[in-house]
Amino acid sequence: MVVEQKTLTTNELKEAIEKLKKEKNAVILAHYYVDEDIQSIADYVGDSLALAQTSKKESASIIVFCGVHFMAETAKILNPKAKVLLPDLNAGCSLADSAPEAEFLAFKNKYPDAIVVSYINSSSGVKALSDFICTSSNAVDVVNSIPKDKRIIFAPDKNLGMFVQKVTGRDLILWEGACIVHVNISNDKLDALHLANPDAEIIAHPECLPIILEKASFVGSTKALLDYVQTSSSQKFIVATEAGILYKMKLAVPHKTILPAPALESNSCACSECPYMKMNTLEKLYQTLLHELPEIHVNEKTQEGALRALNNMLSL
Ligand code: 13P
Ligand code: SF4
Repeated sequence: MVVEQKTLTTNELKEAIEKLKKEKNAVILAHYYVDEDIQSIADYVGDSLALAQTSKKESASIIVFCGVHFMAETAKILNPKAKVLLPDLNAGCSLADSAPEAEFLAFKNKYPDAIVVSYINSSSGVKALSDFICTSSNAVDVVNSIPKDKRIIFAPDKNLGMFVQKVTGRDLILWEGACIVHVNISNDKLDALHLANPDAEIIAHPECLPIILEKASFVGSTKALLDYVQTSSSQKFIVATEAGILYKMKLAVPHKTILPAPALESNSCACSECPYMKMNTLEKLYQTLLHELPEIHVNEKTQEGALRALNNMLSL
Protein backbone atom coordinates (compact mmCIF):
# COMPACT_ATOMS: atom_id res chain seq x y z
CA MET A 1 0.00 0.00 0.00
CA VAL A 2 1.35 3.43 -0.90
CA VAL A 3 0.88 5.95 1.92
CA GLU A 4 0.57 9.45 0.56
CA GLN A 5 2.60 11.97 2.55
CA LYS A 6 1.01 15.37 3.05
CA THR A 7 3.28 18.24 2.04
CA LEU A 8 3.34 20.84 4.80
CA THR A 9 2.92 24.52 3.94
CA THR A 10 5.60 27.04 4.99
CA ASN A 11 3.54 28.10 8.03
CA GLU A 12 2.82 24.51 9.03
CA LEU A 13 6.53 23.71 8.77
CA LYS A 14 7.42 26.72 10.91
CA GLU A 15 4.86 25.69 13.57
CA ALA A 16 6.06 22.08 13.56
CA ILE A 17 9.69 23.23 13.92
CA GLU A 18 8.79 25.51 16.87
CA LYS A 19 6.98 22.63 18.58
CA LEU A 20 9.84 20.15 18.09
CA LYS A 21 12.35 22.73 19.26
CA LYS A 22 10.54 23.13 22.61
CA GLU A 23 9.99 19.39 23.06
CA LYS A 24 13.64 18.58 22.40
CA ASN A 25 15.34 21.57 24.07
CA ALA A 26 16.89 22.52 20.73
CA VAL A 27 18.09 25.85 19.31
CA ILE A 28 18.46 26.91 15.70
CA LEU A 29 21.57 28.85 14.73
CA ALA A 30 21.65 30.33 11.23
CA HIS A 31 24.16 32.21 9.10
CA TYR A 32 23.05 35.41 7.32
CA TYR A 33 23.40 33.61 3.97
CA VAL A 34 20.57 31.07 4.48
CA ASP A 35 17.03 31.63 3.18
CA GLU A 36 14.82 34.27 4.80
CA ASP A 37 12.32 31.68 6.01
CA ILE A 38 15.01 30.01 8.10
CA GLN A 39 16.50 33.31 9.30
CA SER A 40 13.01 34.37 10.42
CA ILE A 41 12.59 31.39 12.79
CA ALA A 42 16.19 30.95 13.93
CA ASP A 43 16.99 31.62 17.60
CA TYR A 44 20.20 33.27 16.56
CA VAL A 45 21.38 34.65 13.20
CA GLY A 46 24.99 35.78 12.90
CA ASP A 47 28.28 35.81 11.04
CA SER A 48 30.94 33.12 11.47
CA LEU A 49 32.49 34.67 14.58
CA ALA A 50 29.22 35.37 16.38
CA LEU A 51 27.94 31.89 15.57
CA ALA A 52 31.11 30.31 16.97
CA GLN A 53 30.85 32.41 20.15
CA THR A 54 27.15 31.56 20.51
CA SER A 55 27.77 27.82 19.97
CA LYS A 56 30.40 27.80 22.71
CA LYS A 57 28.08 29.21 25.40
CA GLU A 58 24.85 27.53 24.27
CA SER A 59 23.28 25.27 26.94
CA ALA A 60 20.56 23.57 24.81
CA SER A 61 20.80 19.79 24.29
CA ILE A 62 20.56 20.12 20.49
CA ILE A 63 22.02 22.76 18.16
CA VAL A 64 20.62 22.68 14.64
CA PHE A 65 23.12 24.56 12.54
CA CYS A 66 21.62 26.12 9.43
CA GLY A 67 24.83 26.96 7.65
CA VAL A 68 27.58 24.84 6.13
CA HIS A 69 29.57 21.83 7.31
CA PHE A 70 32.64 23.64 8.71
CA MET A 71 30.34 25.85 10.82
CA ALA A 72 28.49 22.90 12.34
CA GLU A 73 31.83 21.14 12.93
CA THR A 74 33.12 24.27 14.71
CA ALA A 75 30.00 24.31 16.91
CA LYS A 76 30.61 20.65 17.84
CA ILE A 77 34.28 21.34 18.65
CA LEU A 78 33.37 24.31 20.85
CA ASN A 79 30.42 22.59 22.51
CA PRO A 80 31.10 18.82 22.46
CA LYS A 81 28.28 18.01 24.92
CA ALA A 82 25.59 19.29 22.56
CA LYS A 83 24.18 17.16 19.77
CA VAL A 84 24.97 19.21 16.65
CA LEU A 85 22.81 18.65 13.57
CA LEU A 86 23.24 19.99 10.03
CA PRO A 87 20.16 19.82 7.74
CA ASP A 88 22.23 18.75 4.70
CA LEU A 89 25.64 17.06 5.03
CA ASN A 90 26.44 18.11 1.45
CA ALA A 91 26.46 21.77 2.47
CA GLY A 92 30.20 22.25 2.02
CA CYS A 93 32.33 25.28 1.18
CA SER A 94 34.71 25.90 -1.71
CA LEU A 95 37.27 27.38 0.69
CA ALA A 96 37.27 24.42 3.07
CA ASP A 97 37.38 22.04 0.08
CA SER A 98 40.41 23.85 -1.38
CA ALA A 99 42.61 22.76 1.53
CA PRO A 100 42.67 18.97 1.99
CA GLU A 101 44.38 18.06 5.26
CA ALA A 102 47.29 16.03 3.77
CA GLU A 103 48.15 18.73 1.20
CA PHE A 104 47.93 21.38 3.85
CA LEU A 105 50.30 19.45 6.12
CA ALA A 106 52.83 19.16 3.27
CA PHE A 107 52.54 22.94 2.65
CA LYS A 108 52.96 23.71 6.36
CA ASN A 109 56.05 21.46 6.54
CA LYS A 110 57.78 23.65 3.94
CA TYR A 111 57.78 26.54 6.45
CA PRO A 112 58.54 24.85 9.81
CA ASP A 113 59.15 28.14 11.65
CA ALA A 114 55.90 29.81 10.49
CA ILE A 115 52.83 30.49 12.65
CA VAL A 116 49.71 29.07 10.97
CA VAL A 117 46.58 31.23 10.86
CA SER A 118 43.63 29.45 9.29
CA TYR A 119 40.33 31.00 8.32
CA ILE A 120 37.40 29.38 10.13
CA ASN A 121 36.23 28.25 6.64
CA SER A 122 38.41 25.13 6.86
CA SER A 123 38.03 21.50 7.90
CA SER A 124 38.55 20.44 11.52
CA GLY A 125 41.71 18.61 10.35
CA VAL A 126 43.21 21.83 8.97
CA LYS A 127 42.15 23.70 12.13
CA ALA A 128 44.01 21.10 14.22
CA LEU A 129 47.18 21.83 12.17
CA SER A 130 46.86 25.57 12.88
CA ASP A 131 48.04 27.85 15.68
CA PHE A 132 45.20 30.35 15.35
CA ILE A 133 41.81 30.39 13.68
CA CYS A 134 40.38 33.68 12.43
CA THR A 135 37.16 34.86 10.82
CA SER A 136 36.63 37.76 8.46
CA SER A 137 35.74 39.89 11.54
CA ASN A 138 39.04 39.43 13.32
CA ALA A 139 41.64 38.28 10.73
CA VAL A 140 43.49 41.62 10.95
CA ASP A 141 43.54 41.52 14.79
CA VAL A 142 44.73 37.90 14.84
CA VAL A 143 47.61 38.66 12.46
CA ASN A 144 48.48 41.85 14.38
CA SER A 145 48.67 39.82 17.63
CA ILE A 146 51.58 37.75 16.25
CA PRO A 147 55.10 39.12 16.90
CA LYS A 148 56.47 41.01 13.89
CA ASP A 149 59.53 38.77 13.54
CA LYS A 150 57.40 35.64 12.95
CA ARG A 151 56.54 34.37 9.48
CA ILE A 152 52.83 33.62 9.01
CA ILE A 153 51.03 31.09 6.82
CA PHE A 154 47.52 32.36 6.04
CA ALA A 155 45.02 29.85 4.60
CA PRO A 156 42.85 28.99 2.79
CA ASP A 157 41.37 32.25 1.38
CA LYS A 158 43.92 34.06 -0.80
CA ASN A 159 41.70 37.13 -1.27
CA LEU A 160 41.12 37.60 2.45
CA GLY A 161 44.86 36.97 2.92
CA MET A 162 45.77 39.70 0.42
CA PHE A 163 43.38 42.10 2.13
CA VAL A 164 44.92 41.34 5.56
CA GLN A 165 48.36 41.75 4.03
CA LYS A 166 47.42 45.21 2.77
CA VAL A 167 45.89 46.37 6.07
CA THR A 168 48.60 44.97 8.38
CA GLY A 169 51.62 45.50 6.10
CA ARG A 170 52.71 41.94 6.95
CA ASP A 171 54.10 39.60 4.31
CA LEU A 172 51.92 36.45 4.53
CA ILE A 173 52.54 33.03 3.00
CA LEU A 174 49.23 32.49 1.21
CA TRP A 175 47.30 29.34 0.29
CA GLU A 176 45.52 29.49 -3.10
CA GLY A 177 41.86 29.12 -2.06
CA ALA A 178 38.83 31.22 -3.00
CA CYS A 179 35.13 31.53 -2.26
CA ILE A 180 33.15 30.70 -5.41
CA VAL A 181 30.43 33.13 -4.36
CA HIS A 182 32.55 36.22 -3.73
CA VAL A 183 34.78 35.76 -6.80
CA ASN A 184 31.60 35.41 -8.87
CA ILE A 185 30.84 39.13 -8.49
CA SER A 186 31.19 40.79 -11.90
CA ASN A 187 33.53 43.77 -12.10
CA ASP A 188 31.98 45.07 -15.36
CA LYS A 189 28.39 44.68 -14.17
CA LEU A 190 29.31 46.33 -10.86
CA ASP A 191 30.73 49.33 -12.77
CA ALA A 192 27.55 49.56 -14.85
CA LEU A 193 25.34 49.39 -11.75
CA HIS A 194 27.40 52.08 -10.03
CA LEU A 195 27.22 54.28 -13.12
CA ALA A 196 23.44 53.99 -13.05
CA ASN A 197 23.45 54.66 -9.27
CA PRO A 198 26.28 57.14 -8.66
CA ASP A 199 24.84 58.07 -5.25
CA ALA A 200 25.28 54.49 -3.98
CA GLU A 201 28.19 53.47 -1.75
CA ILE A 202 29.88 50.20 -2.72
CA ILE A 203 30.59 48.02 0.32
CA ALA A 204 32.25 44.60 0.12
CA HIS A 205 33.24 41.43 1.96
CA PRO A 206 37.02 40.76 2.07
CA GLU A 207 36.57 37.39 0.29
CA CYS A 208 35.96 39.42 -2.94
CA LEU A 209 38.68 39.86 -5.55
CA PRO A 210 41.05 42.85 -5.05
CA ILE A 211 39.58 44.61 -8.13
CA ILE A 212 36.19 44.70 -6.35
CA LEU A 213 37.66 45.66 -2.95
CA GLU A 214 39.47 48.64 -4.54
CA LYS A 215 36.09 50.12 -5.48
CA ALA A 216 34.57 49.69 -2.02
CA SER A 217 34.34 52.56 0.45
CA PHE A 218 33.99 49.99 3.24
CA VAL A 219 35.27 46.40 3.51
CA GLY A 220 34.09 44.16 6.34
CA SER A 221 32.62 40.87 7.51
CA THR A 222 28.94 40.11 6.97
CA LYS A 223 28.05 41.60 10.38
CA ALA A 224 30.27 44.64 9.83
CA LEU A 225 28.48 45.29 6.50
CA LEU A 226 25.10 45.01 8.25
CA ASP A 227 26.24 47.51 10.91
CA TYR A 228 27.71 49.83 8.28
CA VAL A 229 24.43 50.36 6.35
CA GLN A 230 22.88 51.43 9.66
CA THR A 231 25.61 53.89 10.70
CA SER A 232 26.59 55.41 7.34
CA SER A 233 24.73 58.55 6.29
CA SER A 234 24.38 57.18 2.72
CA GLN A 235 20.89 56.29 1.59
CA LYS A 236 21.89 53.78 -1.10
CA PHE A 237 24.35 50.85 -1.10
CA ILE A 238 25.64 48.27 -3.54
CA VAL A 239 26.53 45.25 -1.43
CA ALA A 240 29.27 42.96 -2.76
CA THR A 241 28.71 39.73 -0.84
CA GLU A 242 26.26 36.82 -0.68
CA ALA A 243 22.73 38.12 -1.24
CA GLY A 244 21.23 36.47 1.88
CA ILE A 245 22.44 39.40 4.03
CA LEU A 246 20.04 41.74 2.18
CA TYR A 247 17.14 40.29 4.21
CA LYS A 248 18.50 41.63 7.54
CA MET A 249 19.74 44.86 5.91
CA LYS A 250 16.29 45.65 4.54
CA LEU A 251 14.73 44.93 7.96
CA ALA A 252 17.31 47.16 9.67
CA VAL A 253 17.09 50.14 7.25
CA PRO A 254 13.77 49.85 5.37
CA HIS A 255 14.03 53.50 4.29
CA LYS A 256 17.39 52.94 2.51
CA THR A 257 18.00 51.32 -0.90
CA ILE A 258 20.09 48.16 -0.82
CA LEU A 259 21.22 46.70 -4.15
CA PRO A 260 23.06 43.39 -4.48
CA ALA A 261 26.29 43.45 -6.51
CA PRO A 262 25.65 41.61 -9.82
CA ALA A 263 27.06 38.14 -10.48
CA LEU A 264 29.05 37.03 -13.55
CA GLU A 265 26.58 34.26 -14.30
CA SER A 266 23.00 35.38 -14.47
CA ASN A 267 20.62 33.49 -12.18
CA SER A 268 17.16 34.12 -10.69
CA CYS A 269 18.35 36.95 -8.41
CA ALA A 270 21.08 38.21 -10.82
CA CYS A 271 23.27 38.36 -7.72
CA SER A 272 25.73 36.03 -6.02
CA GLU A 273 24.24 33.24 -3.92
CA CYS A 274 26.01 30.42 -2.06
CA PRO A 275 24.70 27.10 -3.39
CA TYR A 276 25.81 25.36 -0.18
CA MET A 277 24.05 27.75 2.20
CA LYS A 278 20.93 27.48 0.03
CA MET A 279 20.86 23.68 0.62
CA ASN A 280 19.26 24.51 3.98
CA THR A 281 15.48 24.42 3.53
CA LEU A 282 12.61 24.53 6.03
CA GLU A 283 11.61 21.00 5.03
CA LYS A 284 15.12 19.64 5.68
CA LEU A 285 15.30 21.58 8.95
CA TYR A 286 12.02 20.00 10.06
CA GLN A 287 13.17 16.46 9.12
CA THR A 288 16.51 17.06 10.87
CA LEU A 289 14.85 18.06 14.11
CA LEU A 290 12.33 15.23 13.87
CA HIS A 291 14.88 12.44 13.33
CA GLU A 292 17.88 14.17 15.03
CA LEU A 293 19.93 13.46 11.92
CA PRO A 294 22.37 14.08 10.27
CA GLU A 295 24.58 14.53 13.31
CA ILE A 296 28.09 16.02 13.26
CA HIS A 297 30.95 14.06 14.88
CA VAL A 298 34.59 15.06 15.27
CA ASN A 299 37.24 12.57 16.36
CA GLU A 300 38.84 13.21 19.75
CA LYS A 301 42.38 14.00 18.54
CA THR A 302 41.22 16.45 15.87
CA GLN A 303 38.79 17.99 18.34
CA GLU A 304 41.62 18.68 20.81
CA GLY A 305 43.91 20.40 18.25
CA ALA A 306 41.13 22.36 16.59
CA LEU A 307 39.77 23.53 19.96
CA ARG A 308 43.22 24.83 20.95
CA ALA A 309 43.44 26.90 17.73
CA LEU A 310 39.84 28.15 18.09
CA ASN A 311 40.40 29.13 21.73
CA ASN A 312 43.58 31.00 20.74
CA MET A 313 41.31 33.14 18.56
CA LEU A 314 38.42 33.46 21.03
CA SER A 315 40.69 34.47 23.92
CA LEU A 316 42.21 37.38 21.96
P1 13P B 1 31.56 35.89 7.70
O1 13P B 1 30.42 35.18 8.30
O2 13P B 1 32.75 35.93 8.62
O3 13P B 1 31.22 37.24 7.19
O4 13P B 1 32.06 35.01 6.45
C1 13P B 1 31.29 34.92 5.32
C2 13P B 1 31.28 33.60 4.71
O5 13P B 1 31.57 33.41 3.57
C3 13P B 1 30.82 32.50 5.52
O6 13P B 1 30.96 31.35 4.83
FE1 SF4 C 1 32.05 28.94 1.52
FE2 SF4 C 1 31.77 31.11 0.05
FE3 SF4 C 1 29.63 29.65 0.60
FE4 SF4 C 1 30.83 31.09 2.55
S1 SF4 C 1 29.81 31.88 0.76
S2 SF4 C 1 30.14 28.96 2.66
S3 SF4 C 1 32.97 30.96 1.91
S4 SF4 C 1 31.39 29.00 -0.62
